[in-house]
Amino acid sequence: MSQSTAVLQAVLVDLVDLGLQGKQAHWNVGGPFFRSVHLELDEVVGQLLEWQDEVAERISALGGHPDGRAATVASGSTVAPLAGGPLRDVDVVTGFSDRLAAASAAISARFGEAEADLPSQDVLIGIVAGLDKAAWFFRAQVA
Ligand SMILES: [Fe+2]
Repeated sequence: MSQSTAVLQAVLVDLVDLGLQGKQAHWNVGGPFFRSVHLELDEVVGQLLEWQDEVAERISALGGHPDGRAATVASGSTVAPLAGGPLRDVDVVTGFSDRLAAASAAISARFGEAEADLPSQDVLIGIVAGLDKAAWFFRAQVA
């Protein structure tokens, strides 16, 4: 596995976990802001699915083999775990703002590892910009 595909694989695992957590929260959120948070989570999950596909197919394009299996995600994700059961809307807002910002920071910290592979670095930069925007959309609700 090349250096850039290793970074892409690590990013893929976190993006899959974030997507799963987004759906989990979409189903379990409650509170006065239920509707907007419920809908916003699905928008973010849609973006996460697109990014997952972009990253996974970049790995394939480089001759690698993306691994998005549940066991791989469970053992490799760096995303903070999400509690089971009911979730308060305000906790979801802050929790996802934090998780998206953390994912952005984790990817940004690894830009240098993809320096020799600018198309992959470009993919990662685009995802970071999107994660930052999604984190802001949540953060602005509790500003
Ligand atoms: Fe739904």
